[in-house]
Amino acid sequence: MSVKILVVEDEDVIRDVAVDSLMDEGYECIEACNGAIGLDMILADPKIDIVLSDILMPKKNGIDMISEAVKGKSENRSIEFIIMTGHGGAEEAIDALKLGVLDFIQKPFDLDYLVHVVKRAEELINLRRSNQDYQLNLEAKVTEKTQEVQDLLVNLQMAHGEALACLAVASDYRDPETGNHIRRIGAYAHLIAKKLNWSDTRIDEILLAAPLHDAGKIGTPDLILLKPGPLDDNEFLIMKQHALNGHAILSQSDHPVMKVAANIALGHHERWSGGGYPHNIKGAEIPIEARIVTLVDVYDALRSKRPYKSEFSQEKTLSIIFEGDGRTNPSHFDPELLEVLESCVDEMNLIYSKWIDV
Ligand SMILES: [Fe+2]
Ligand SMILES: [Fe+2]
Repeated sequence: MSVKILVVEDEDVIRDVAVDSLMDEGYECIEACNGAIGLDMILADPKIDIVLSDILMPKKNGIDMISEAVKGKSENRSIEFIIMTGHGGAEEAIDALKLGVLDFIQKPFDLDYLVHVVKRAEELINLRRSNQDYQLNLEAKVTEKTQEVQDLLVNLQMAHGEALACLAVASDYRDPETGNHIRRIGAYAHLIAKKLNWSDTRIDEILLAAPLHDAGKIGTPDLILLKPGPLDDNEFLIMKQHALNGHAILSQSDHPVMKVAANIALGHHERWSGGGYPHNIKGAEIPIEARIVTLVDVYDALRSKRPYKSEFSQEKTLSIIFEGDGRTNPSHFDPELLEVLESCVDEMNLIYSKWIDV
């Protein structure tokens, strides 16, 4: 990019000679015959990069012009000043230095030297410009890359969430329970975790992980999975394997969601009071996420229509959970979670109605 030079000099001959020789070098030049006009031109034209100025001039001297130009210019504008001084101008030269003047030329000057000084100023300006361009480019590049990384992360999270949902749907394909069941289980578990004041991360994890509770049913034979009547002891033994199978499948990954899902798959048929499967553990030995899914899975099974039972009302479902019916007993569930359930029965009902089976 070329530079624009303003020559401020009251002696016409000197001014003409300076302007002509700089124009011969290819510079764009404008001129002023005193400091007052020079100042107006500097402030009016932001394209002026270099000011070559005499010191002693009528109306306004060079030092005052430079001082006012430095004060009046916009903050991010840079102008290089070069002073042309006669003999004995030492004091003015010091004043000029204080104002940040770049260079001096002694009058009468040699034209080659004038061009040499201007070229040095031009190099400095070009260096500063390319530095500014580099900074701007760098900032733009950083912003662009940050956005790319963020987009990638969002994509990755979406892909991950969708992969988990696909796995849940795949396991559900072999199950007489519906796709809406697994959706509801995720939403109920999410609600209970929220009521327990879990962190946002943990709440999101259980939302994704809970639908995978029966992923192990992929390995359960159809004859058992789809049997309309009650299972005999041997068949029930095989059915129970789905908890271990689910854990075996889901614990292949170290991802936090998969770890939660593996815990849920393994522990969702354990009972708070003991007597559940596969490990017959009890109380706090059962991971909290599994205890949550145990409760909401029973709630949903009671509410839904299944091959072996009709749909139960909210009232009947809650009375079975809180009072027992001979098969289900409140002692099966974590008492703290029963309290939480009691505090959000209307929201549970809303989730059931939102994704009701058709
Ligand atoms: Fe299960
Ligand atoms: Fe289930």
